[in-house]
Amino acid sequence: MILLDGNKTAAEIKNEIAQKVARIREEGKKSPGLVTILVGDNPASQVYVNKKNKTCAELGMISKTEKLDAGISEDELLKLVRYYNDAAEYHGILVQLPLPAHIDEDKVIEAINPAKDVDGFHPVSVGNLVIGKEAFLPCTPFGILELLKRYNIETKGKHVVVVGRSNIVGKPVANLLLQKKEGANAVVTVCHSAAPDLKKFTLSADILIAAIGRANYVTADMVKDGAVVIDVGINRVEDHSAAKGYRIVGDVDFENVAPKCSYITPVPGGVGAMTIAMLMQNTLSAYIKIEEKK
Ligand SMILES: NC(=O)c1ccc[n+]([C@@H]2O[C@H](COP(=O)([O-])OP(=O)(O)OC[C@H]3O[C@@H](n4cnc5c(N)ncnc54)[C@H](OP(=O)(O)O)[C@@H]3O)[C@@H](O)[C@H]2O)c1
Repeated sequence: MILLDGNKTAAEIKNEIAQKVARIREEGKKSPGLVTILVGDNPASQVYVNKKNKTCAELGMISKTEKLDAGISEDELLKLVRYYNDAAEYHGILVQLPLPAHIDEDKVIEAINPAKDVDGFHPVSVGNLVIGKEAFLPCTPFGILELLKRYNIETKGKHVVVVGRSNIVGKPVANLLLQKKEGANAVVTVCHSAAPDLKKFTLSADILIAAIGRANYVTADMVKDGAVVIDVGINRVEDHSAAKGYRIVGDVDFENVAPKCSYITPVPGGVGAMTIAMLMQNTLSAYIKIEEKK
């Protein structure tokens, strides 16, 4: 069994990006810039935004956080998004989700200039992904494809079973792996909570992607010998021996599933570690496209 090391792979990708940014700076050009819009004081969102800013700084990119009061009106937020759509120093715009209940998330995402949609959530990005055109890929599915590619895991003709159909993980990763392209071209099955006998599907997976949000839900009897298992889940379970009183586990019962696998991602240190690296990649891609047009 080989561990798919997200930390190591993400570090490689970030290193490659840092080198590209350094070359851009050597040519006397401005750095790529990312603006993150954070509404309210959700502690998890603040942690994510801080990590994004720290990573931008490490890679030589500009970053800015617009911290807004939870009570901001939808109109004011839309105005701010439109301001950054035209702001030349920022090439990527990320609105940290979730937004407060009085704000329509779809409306805000749709207001982002698709050329700066580094989260890949705009309907234009989603549509381009589905029809196989060049698109900003949502960062977690992008990270999964990149892990498979960098470990030379064949996807062509393989049966991929995705458990979960969310718009941020399940649907986009299934659509990506379905494309008639290098690093994809798989036969894809998507399962969800209405699947009558989940095990019947998962047992036939050459590559099993679990994006469920339920701790240790995928057990050893659900996995074929030699399968590749990608665990997207991030779940807190009580653990009084841990300093914080909890620990993070995936959707896969790692201890019992890992011995059966050819490859498996750990949690933490697997898919989760890739997400910010892919955001940085999208920001650099946005920069290159926007600056090339000038
Ligand atoms: N960077 C990262 O690593 C990253 C990024 C995003 C999410 N995550 C983690 O990945 C997990 C999934 O996230 P998400 O946003 O996709 O979650 P989500 O929106 O809650 O979607 C979960 C999906 O799992 C399906 N599901 C739930 N119970 C099931 C069951 N018993 N059998 C089969 N399918 C079942 C649901 O089916 P229905 O559609 O029928 O409800 C749904 O499609 C979470 O743990 C989340 O924290 C990690």
